[in-house]
Amino acid sequence: MLMFREGIPPSWVDKVRANLGPLLVDHAHLERKAATTAITLERYRCLYARVHELNAIAIEELQHFELVLQLLKKRGMEFGQPVRSPWISGMMGAMRTGNHREQVIDHLLVCALIEGRSCEKFQVLSRALQSAEPELAAFYGSLVESEGNHYAAYLLMARHIDEAETDRRLDWFLDLDAKLMREPHSLPILH
Ligand SMILES: [Fe+2]
Ligand SMILES: [Fe+2]
Repeated sequence: MLMFREGIPPSWVDKVRANLGPLLVDHAHLERKAATTAITLERYRCLYARVHELNAIAIEELQHFELVLQLLKKRGMEFGQPVRSPWISGMMGAMRTGNHREQVIDHLLVCALIEGRSCEKFQVLSRALQSAEPELAAFYGSLVESEGNHYAAYLLMARHIDEAETDRRLDWFLDLDAKLMREPHSLPILH
């Protein structure tokens, strides 16, 4: 798995564990956005050949979205407003635009890192919720492999376009991720 340069803030797991409703609503939106992002990537001409692979990711994310909605319903909670994540905004805001190749590589890398952090956090949640919330713990455990695969798929797509540039930008984005992770916020959300 990816070598992140900063750990998850220790306060994160307690914060979300105490706010499972808002966490699940945020998670639902995250899966919704992951599905739409996979489809958005299909507009880049250097990813036209990846359209089936991207559709498969979008379908999987939509299935995850539906599973989170079912969990919300089961718990008598409503699907509500999305909350802006400072970490995701910081990562997305750093994407280069204008040059097609640069933009696609950055977009794929940001997607890969979001998937990678989700994978890591789902593992943490699965362990942390085991005794008090076994159903949720099992659910988060069941998503780990899929999000890990999405991380790898996006990274490989970027490397296939330009390996040296991808690795150079990955190094840069890992530093940005570490910097943003050192600025914890109080919102009870995944990222
Ligand atoms: Fe997902
Ligand atoms: Fe994913």
